[in-house]
Amino acid sequence: MARLLTQLELLKELEPVAEENVNRHLKIAKDWNPHDYVPWDEGRNFAALGGVDYDPEQSELSDVAKAAMITNLLTEDNLPSYHRVIADNFSMDSAWGHWVGRWTAEENRHGIVMRDYLVVTRGVDPVALEEARMIHMTNGYDPMLAAAGRVDELEEHADDLGLLHSVAYVTFQELATRVSHRNTGKACNDPVADKMLQRIAADENLHMIFYRNICGAGFDIAPDQTLRAVTDIVTNFQMPGAGMPNFRRHGVLMAKHGIYDLRQHLEEVVMPVLRKWKVFERDDFTSEGEKTREELAAFLEQLEKDTIRFEEMRDRSLAREAKKREQQAS
Ligand SMILES: [Fe+2]
Ligand SMILES: [Fe+2]
Repeated sequence: MARLLTQLELLKELEPVAEENVNRHLKIAKDWNPHDYVPWDEGRNFAALGGVDYDPEQSELSDVAKAAMITNLLTEDNLPSYHRVIADNFSMDSAWGHWVGRWTAEENRHGIVMRDYLVVTRGVDPVALEEARMIHMTNGYDPMLAAAGRVDELEEHADDLGLLHSVAYVTFQELATRVSHRNTGKACNDPVADKMLQRIAADENLHMIFYRNICGAGFDIAPDQTLRAVTDIVTNFQMPGAGMPNFRRHGVLMAKHGIYDLRQHLEEVVMPVLRKWKVFERDDFTSEGEKTREELAAFLEQLEKDTIRFEEMRDRSLAREAKKREQQAS
């Protein structure tokens, strides 16, 4: 197998790519203000200031939209956790440091606008939301756990388990949040929410492109090592919400109603990125890399089967629920 590059070597070799991509990002990113996306007219005081506290009747969001909004907002809220991991892996110097700061500020904007929208429109219970935020942020999140299955094996190359795993993880994660925000916008059934979430989704897409380009350059300078990191991440991928209150229940609702499901994960997130990196066309892997590629291919084949099974189950479940509603109505 080719020699593994150390963390420092990777940072140094990839620094020009980071710089080029920060500049590219600054040129195409659109500045926007959270207050422009919130219908302030709909707001009123809560009881502490002489108004009325939240009541579920006030919400115009469906259960699915509520679950998706809460999950997506808590994910944005947990930003300091991701900032810490990324800052640790990227260093705060040069283009890397500039990117970490800029990215953090943009992600924070997402949390601000979604919270303002939800509190003003009384879309979800603000007390429950605050409690969930406290729990979720106190737990924190370590994206490196996404590669936990292989940490033991990689321990001897501890240096390797950092930058490449991080950029691989965030590439998929940014694209996953893009899909999730966009579909949540549709599920809210409110043009104001839809516009806000489309705006956020456009940011997530640019974030994804930054990380995808870094990882793509990683393939060019260290093909085997980058493929190992990508395979670790794809085969252990978890959405960043894992560990937040009601994550499973909300995740099931979201998967069942097309906010983020296995098919979207496979076809709109994993495969387009792997194709962009030409993972299955490259001829610069050693035999070790070839073995990793076979492992990745086998995983994807299984994921396709799991997806079909999930969809059959979901269709049956939705049909049962529809029948029940019909019976109740008659
Ligand atoms: Fe975000
Ligand atoms: Fe993002």
